[in-house]
Amino acid sequence: MAHVAQGEKEDIDRAVRAARRTFDSGPWHTMTPSMRGRLLNKLADLAEQHSEEFAQLESLDNGKPLSVARAADVPLAIDMFCYMAGWATKIEGNTIPMSFPGQYFAYTLREPVGVVGQIIPWNFPLLMAAWKLAPALAVGCTSILKPAQQTPLSALRLGELIMEAGFPAGVVNIVTGFGSGAGAPLAAHPAVDKIAFTGSTEVGKMILQAAAGNLKKVSLELGGKAPNIVLKDMDVQTAIAGAAHAIFFNQGQVCCAGSRLYVEKGVFDQVVEGVAEHTKKIKIGSGFDPSVTMGPLVSDEQLSRVTGYLQLGMSEGAKSLAGGQRYGDHGYFVEPTVLVSTNQNMRVVREEIFGPVVVAQPFDDLDEILSLANDTVFGLSAGIWTRDISKAHRIAAQLKAGTVWINCYNVFDAALPFGGYKQSGWGREMGHAVLESYTEVKSVCIGL
Ligand code: NAI
Ligand code: MG
Repeated sequence: MAHVAQGEKEDIDRAVRAARRTFDSGPWHTMTPSMRGRLLNKLADLAEQHSEEFAQLESLDNGKPLSVARAADVPLAIDMFCYMAGWATKIEGNTIPMSFPGQYFAYTLREPVGVVGQIIPWNFPLLMAAWKLAPALAVGCTSILKPAQQTPLSALRLGELIMEAGFPAGVVNIVTGFGSGAGAPLAAHPAVDKIAFTGSTEVGKMILQAAAGNLKKVSLELGGKAPNIVLKDMDVQTAIAGAAHAIFFNQGQVCCAGSRLYVEKGVFDQVVEGVAEHTKKIKIGSGFDPSVTMGPLVSDEQLSRVTGYLQLGMSEGAKSLAGGQRYGDHGYFVEPTVLVSTNQNMRVVREEIFGPVVVAQPFDDLDEILSLANDTVFGLSAGIWTRDISKAHRIAAQLKAGTVWINCYNVFDAALPFGGYKQSGWGREMGHAVLESYTEVKSVCIGL
């Protein structure tokens, strides 16, 4: 389909030097916040003009249904640039009342952290580029962006639009390549001030070690194994549709996917059988076929990983109510799968599968569900389905997760922070929360 350069250490080094120069002394350094905001708005406009092209690139490169790229990836990415364009002129400090003996006038400034390395995954390639670039550019950082080796195309096209919008040279430097060849030297580079990573928890830990050399700042958005909790008071059909969407959206290749389905006893059979029934309505095939609602997984590697977990689950004693194996004999398709007879000790319940596979378990009461839900090393997201407003808030308050969706799932907004507790990561993406992770606070104290 396309040939893409395999960036290595020396390419990263050249990109870092360009970003460094532009940050320290180039036109970016002196550009007004208003102008940065206008450039971001211009980029959003250009991306919008090329919406259909981006949606097609995303579907071709990742395999996801074109309809999903059109409805989710592309508009959310555009929105991110618009939202952050507004922040460019609003990165403010405070005036601080001082109690130290004497008279002082003290204030804080928020300054860009500097040159940032940004490493992104393949599940939402354009959107992840937008989540990373938009806040960094809004606050005045320069970036070296490394897209995932599986899906570099939309980031490269975005790079062309960044040039067309008029961003000065060196502000955004996109280096394609593999994790070990290009990602690792970026994470370790001594002239990079911050590294922002989205991907596996395993690589997140490697990023952290690589960052230790110059103690660069680190933000991480990692894996998840989200509990999706259905209480028995909930309308069963709504819960079924919600549970299916929570796990099957984007072929289940979503860090916040509702991959552990916990259903209150009394409606367990009805709900899990409903989700199993729902899988029959999912049409698997090419992302370019308008009737298709589930495309292939992204790669051979991901296919092996997911089918490996399916075999493991069966050998651990789980039973499949629907699916359970590869779909067809060519391409990277996997059947949407519902596993029951599962328990907390199984690896399919503890580990992130990152495919269209949900594990389901019944529970008795609130105490039990809270301990089951929080019994995980992850803490990215969670879902609750109930009409009982007080139970909904009580559960939400006690879940160790960065996002809790009540009676909805996979709802994202540029204004709504997103990120993980525990091993799901450090820091937040989106909202004004993300601005903190791309800025330093400087305290200035003047004796009067
Ligand atoms: P990965 O974590 O290896 O790759 C993500 C990004 O990190 C890619 O750009 C890759 O090139 C880069 N990378 C890989 N090794 C690196 C290193 N040593 N130093 C710096 N950068 C490096 O994820 P992979 O292998 O594609 O998927 C494995 C599993 O990770 C998935 O099955 C899923 O469980 C999880 N994952 C989670 C994502 C999320 O959104 N949180 C996204 C992608 C994967
Ligand atoms: Mg990997």
